[in-house]
Formats: sequence, C-alpha cells, structure tokens
Amino acid sequence: MLTVAALIVVIEIIRLATISGSLDIDDFILSFAGAAIGFIVRICLPIRRLFKLLALRNRESGVIMRENKYDDKIFFDKYSQMPRSTGGLESAGEWHILESMLPSFKGKRVLDLGCGFGWHCIYAAEQGAASVVGVDISEKMLERAKEKTDFSQVCYIHSSIEEYNYPEKGFDAVISSLAFHYIENFDDVCVKVSRCLVTGGDFVFSAEHPVFTARGSQDWVYDELGNILHWAVDRYFDESKRSTRFLGEEVAKYHRTLTTYINCLLRHGFAITGLCEPTPAEHMLESQGMKDELRRPMMLIIAAEKI
Ligand SMILES: C[S@@+](CC[C@H](N)C(=O)[O-])C[C@H]1O[C@@H](n2cnc3c(N)ncnc32)[C@H](O)[C@@H]1O
Repeated sequence: MLTVAALIVVIEIIRLATISGSLDIDDFILSFAGAAIGFIVRICLPIRRLFKLLALRNRESGVIMRENKYDDKIFFDKYSQMPRSTGGLESAGEWHILESMLPSFKGKRVLDLGCGFGWHCIYAAEQGAASVVGVDISEKMLERAKEKTDFSQVCYIHSSIEEYNYPEKGFDAVISSLAFHYIENFDDVCVKVSRCLVTGGDFVFSAEHPVFTARGSQDWVYDELGNILHWAVDRYFDESKRSTRFLGEEVAKYHRTLTTYINCLLRHGFAITGLCEPTPAEHMLESQGMKDELRRPMMLIIAAEKI
C-alpha cells in the first residue's frame, strides 16, 4: 500500500511541477517528503490501526476467517457441472468403495461433515437413518442440498466443520466425503467427532490422498508434447497449507501424512476398521482421464469405530 501511495505522490508532484514549469530538484525532494509523511500519518497509519483492531476483535470473539471457495460464483458454477455434481453418487469414481465401507444407517443418527449437495445425507435417509444432519460452510451448496432433499429427517446446518457445536454422544455415525483436506487441524476434528459419537459409533470418511496433496500443484508432470510422464510426490513430510489448482481456480487445501490421519484417530479412541485407496469402478474406466486414476492414489477412505 505504501509503495502505491508513494507512486501516487510522485506522479502528483511531477504533474504539478510540470504544470508550473518549475521542476527544481530541491523543491521536488522537499515536496515529496512532505507529501509522503502527510500521507503516512493521515491515511496509512489509521488504516493499519483499524486492521489491527479488527484482527484482535476476531481473535477475541473466536471468529476465524476460513476459505469458503464453494460460495465463489465462478468456482461454484464449475463444481456444479462436474459429473459427481450432476449425476450424484453413482457418478463418483470412489462411491462403489465408500458405499461398501459405510455402516448400516437403519435407525441411526447420522452426521455428515462437509455435506455439499447432500448426496450422502439423502443416501443415509434412504437407508433408513432416523435423523441426518448435514454441515457445510457453503450457503450455495446447502441451498442446492435443500432443494434436492425430500426427507423430513434430514436437516442442514450452515457452519464450518471447525465451529459446529458437536452434541455429546449425539450421533451413532459420522461420515464425511472429500472435505477434510480443507481442514487445517485434523486432530481437532477427531477430538470433536469422538466426543459426539456413542461408544461403538462409526466414523467413515474420504479425503484426498496424501500422495495427491503433497506437492501442491495437483497435476501430472508432462513431456514437451503434453503427454503425462508421471505423478511427482514432494514435500511429503511438510504438513501445511497448499495453494492448488482445482477446476482452473486457486483453492487452498491442507496436506497431511497418512501417519497423521491414522495416529490422530488412534489417539482419540478410534479403532481402524477399514482403509482403502480407491480406484474407479470398472465401468467408469472408459470415461475421460479415468484410466490414469490407476496410476496413483487420489483418495483415501478410512473407516473407524469409537471404542
Ligand atoms: C468436494 S466437496 C464434497 C461435498 C460432498 N461431501 C460430496 O462428497 O459430494 C467439499 C465440501 O466441503 C465443504 N467445506 C470446505 N471447507 C469446509 C469447512 N471448513 N467446513 C465445512 N464445510 C467445508 C465445501 O463447502 C464443499 O461443500
């Protein structure tokens, strides 16, 4: 901001000096210094103070600014056109595996974290769940989910996974599909999910595979003709935010190792009951790009039981 301000001041002084025809170097330096100091004192410092104050308020009130990419119109429109968004669960490459790892939902109270368009909530209701709560940070995703859902036992809550008020022993099953790579602190998720599950309750989720999230670009390495050479894994042990390209847009995701996923679950009272790195169903392999999904794991599915 200061650089821009200084530039504006310089341009203005040069303009004035040119108009008056007196571009004297001493006058110029004096005027520039005066104008710059005036600008910093009157405009920049108060703005900086205001920003600091707002940041402090947010910290004190516990309000944390989270990325909510799915409410970005351009990204939302692109995501809405993906096969998994138009065709639902049957169009999702990993669904045949995820479905086989889900518990019976009959008579259960189910929580879906990062429910998006609500496909899994609707599925749980169809399978006889007593109640289903879908939580998502995106209003646009939830709006679409509500339009699609005809089951009175399904309700949607607009909240981040981090801030949701998890009721103690309030659920028999917690599921999540492809949302946890947007969450910085998986340990915290495990604490909360463990607290809200009854003993013997199920926790089943999918997330982008650490091999997929590690490097950050989330793209293949190509030769000069644009042919895929290989998938590169780098920065594997650097667990942190990645700025990725997804649907041609910049999207923040969080990379963590397989060890972290497993150890967080074990640390918070879960027994691992299943783990899978799904490949697309046979009948999908002819679809564009699907055969390449046999070359590296894109997703990870873990099933766990609260003990
Ligand atoms: C790839 S979509 C998956 C949606 C749905 N679970 C599915 O599989 O069809 C990821 C979803 O996670 C949601 N999400 C991302 N960060 C979130 C957060 N911090 N809290 C709650 N939801 C979040 C997004 O808004 C989006 O709906």
